[in-house]
Amino acid sequence: MEDKKGAFESRLGFIMAAIGSAVGLGNIWRFSYIAYENGGGAFLIPYFVVLLTVGIPMLILEIGFGLRQRGSAALSFARLDRKWEWLGWWAPIISFLLMTYYTVIIGWTLNYVGYSFFQSWGNDPETFFFNNHLGLTSGVWEIGNIQINILITVFLVWAANFIIIYKGVQDGVEKASKIFMPLLFILMAIITLRGLTLPGAMAGINKYLTPDFSRLTDSKVWLAAFGQIFFTLSLGFGVMITYASYLPKKSDVVNNAFITGLGNCGFSFMVGMGVFGVLGYMAHQTGVPVDEVITQSIGLAFVAFPKAISMLPAFQTLFSLIFFLALFIAGLSSSISLVEAVVANLMDKFNIERNKAVILVCGIGFLGSVIYTTGAGLYFLDIIDHFNMQFGAALVGVVECLVIAWIFKASRLREWMNPISDFSIGKWWDVLVQYFIPLTLGFSVIKSAIDEFIKPYGGYPISALSMGWIAAVVLIILAVWFAKMNWANERLLNQEVK
Ligand code: PHE
Ligand code: NA
Repeated sequence: MEDKKGAFESRLGFIMAAIGSAVGLGNIWRFSYIAYENGGGAFLIPYFVVLLTVGIPMLILEIGFGLRQRGSAALSFARLDRKWEWLGWWAPIISFLLMTYYTVIIGWTLNYVGYSFFQSWGNDPETFFFNNHLGLTSGVWEIGNIQINILITVFLVWAANFIIIYKGVQDGVEKASKIFMPLLFILMAIITLRGLTLPGAMAGINKYLTPDFSRLTDSKVWLAAFGQIFFTLSLGFGVMITYASYLPKKSDVVNNAFITGLGNCGFSFMVGMGVFGVLGYMAHQTGVPVDEVITQSIGLAFVAFPKAISMLPAFQTLFSLIFFLALFIAGLSSSISLVEAVVANLMDKFNIERNKAVILVCGIGFLGSVIYTTGAGLYFLDIIDHFNMQFGAALVGVVECLVIAWIFKASRLREWMNPISDFSIGKWWDVLVQYFIPLTLGFSVIKSAIDEFIKPYGGYPISALSMGWIAAVVLIILAVWFAKMNWANERLLNQEVK
């Protein structure tokens, strides 16, 4: 093998890994509450429009660029021009920050697998989630205690990431994804079928599938769709660039991007049916309208679902086990892609062994996670995630699109990808990545920055939100700093890439 980092053994392996990264907590936990918050059916139209005009074109861009440049994000951009290397650090640094709290949510799912055996939430899953499970304090500056139950599962999640990434691309990522993805699909199909066949489910489904055209003029709904598509397709994190660099040299790009994008969003759509079916059932049982059966949207998976489970006539333990196990698998297969993106950068730049990079990333990552296991953890998570997505990943998306489309040149990448792809893309793609995406996405970032000043996010005190602003700026400084360092193996940079 010319590639010292190993490569995917088969195309199926790549697709499973890319879908493994894409399908995650975002598809089940985040998608359902974002759809719920944005009016159910009103959300689906912007969601699919953004998928087709931004999501899939960006996937083509990231996969194509990674395959062409054959390196981690840092190496890929440095090979274009050292001037742009910082961009290849910015994305993985955002990945690293995401990892520190994403692993905590995966930890919760493991806790809930345990609680499932005893149905520990009893008949008040809300109090259980916030008080017993999270030990939530009354405000962000009251840190509270570290929750030992969460600390333990978060440690296990990091250990699992460590083992898989330590084994490398073929034996770790590819093997794990080939097992996880089919299993996940089966588990979620069972849950969805159960949800759809409950009494009252149709009322929930109606809410989900009935479009509300009046909401289409609401920029908030579009912003939410942008954010969700980026999060759900793992865009703006350097993940797809890294994974694509492990493909054999002349691999298909366009079809792989379509399969990943449509597969991921099809999965979300299916899960949404199950979730809204369950909400309909709860409305039916309690006599409360579907819109009002839950109030805490962020807790949808951890509050509403156990609540619905406790109303089921039979097999409560089994169904809650299946659900939280599915969430766990979805989360783990995404988190390994984040770890891999960071590890790949370190290996390329500092010419260190995989095992050293993995120890470093997982060790520091676990320490970073500890803050979110405290009583104020949910507040920190909410704030950091908001800034990391809005002024991290989305901004990376704008800059990356501009740099690749204008400096590398969209037409050059397209003409290189088309002959090796199953089918070709036309000039429309150039127009999307040169103008449409940077403009709409850029507008969306600016709009949310303005909203931020008018109405501080989530009603948190400014002192706490400044933490988010500082984090957003520090990430960029760190990226520039890493980019300025010398390459341990300069020759990597000049290797001929064709
Ligand atoms: N796409 C994953 C999800 O939907 C989250 C993720 C984002 C994973 C970025 C990797 C990189 O949950
Ligand atoms: Na996803």
